[in-house]
Amino acid sequence: MNMYDIIMKKRNGGELTRDEIRFFVAGCCEGSIPDYQTSALLMAIWFRGMTEKETLELTIQMLLSGDTVDLSGIKGLKVDKHSTGGVGDKTTLAIAPIAAACGLKVAKMSGRGLGHTGGTIDKLESIPGFNTSLSRQEFVDIVNTTGLCVAGQTGNLVPADKKLYGLRDVTATVDSLPLIASSIMSKKLAAGADIILLDVKYGSGSFMGDPEHAVRLAQLMVKIGEGAGKRTAALITNMDIPLGYSIGNSLEMVEAVNTLRGQGSQDFRRLVRALSSQLLFMAGKGDRALCEELVEKAISDGSALNKLRDMITAQGGDARYIDEPESFPRAAFIEPVTSPEDGYIQKMDTASIGRISVSLGAGRDVADGKIDHSAGLVLNKKTGDEVKKGDVLAWLHTNRHQALESAKSTFLSSLTFSDAPPEKMPLIYATIDTESEARRVKE
Ligand code: URA
Repeated sequence: MNMYDIIMKKRNGGELTRDEIRFFVAGCCEGSIPDYQTSALLMAIWFRGMTEKETLELTIQMLLSGDTVDLSGIKGLKVDKHSTGGVGDKTTLAIAPIAAACGLKVAKMSGRGLGHTGGTIDKLESIPGFNTSLSRQEFVDIVNTTGLCVAGQTGNLVPADKKLYGLRDVTATVDSLPLIASSIMSKKLAAGADIILLDVKYGSGSFMGDPEHAVRLAQLMVKIGEGAGKRTAALITNMDIPLGYSIGNSLEMVEAVNTLRGQGSQDFRRLVRALSSQLLFMAGKGDRALCEELVEKAISDGSALNKLRDMITAQGGDARYIDEPESFPRAAFIEPVTSPEDGYIQKMDTASIGRISVSLGAGRDVADGKIDHSAGLVLNKKTGDEVKKGDVLAWLHTNRHQALESAKSTFLSSLTFSDAPPEKMPLIYATIDTESEARRVKE
């Protein structure tokens, strides 16, 4: 077997066999296949696609390239939730405590911010003392005692993805359905949970602009998860508008806590309730109506917030920040951006707004750059809102005075104004859930 023939076969539209995929993944990890041949195959896959069988095989071979997390020491049903990434996406901070309060075990490995999107680990680290670098045993022990733990990725999980993602990033081959699906699902399967819920984003703040592409990606990932023996479902959700009002690490922490107090922005609250009750439903906690009730109860009786406090304490953080959010350091400069005209916000370029928050200090400009946990934006108006000239559209929070002017003008150019209200886009576009209830619901 040789790489030239494999590239040629895929270039001509053929279906790769299990042995060919195994040869390719093993060879690119060991270094016996040069990067130029790996890149050539990635490009051939980008153009020709892969069958479901090939995609499942690629996922399994990637999964087998490294360690897997053994969660057998945790009693009960282990659940994981994954978002394909967004702006203002703080859902894990609210969903994990709700699920734990309802008796599920949330053993979650999360990531840091990537490009214009934020990361759960960075948000949690805005709490002084919070430790996300845990050994496997500490991780398991915390889940067993508190019901939830969110840690950074440790060990050698899916080295094939690190290699392939690095090459995709520089060869314009990131946006390929089989390559995205195998990348995400190999990592989810390696993380060891019994139940996987995917939040697949569509719109200007995600890497799937078109909701129908997001549906196809979700269907593929659900098939892979179910094919690998895990209960898997997906919600397709709107990232054409930032989620909630806050973007930036401690700002988002506060918004998530407010949501667990039953307050917070309407869109974020709705999404948190939908994802949490879907998780409970998948775990067999009852029919949809009962699962929704359980979620409401965990919020209204304070048990979800207690779970968040428990987790923060168990991971070395100062849980007082949950009750005294004013203790979070505030940025030195908090400045408004005001509307230049009367009208409606017709559209927001959400990726651009994510990049503004990075420029204010909330994300990394370079790979291992330092984050300013106090930096970011708090939106005052969003798509569909009516505005008058001079109204505050957003507050910019930063310690970088020199970044403010450009952030203000970029923010304004990220918005499109119109005379009439825009057509409303659904927050939840579809649910993909094959096992119990094949259903594809449009709002
Ligand atoms: N996130 C991933 O982990 N992989 C991709 O390919 C795209 C998004």
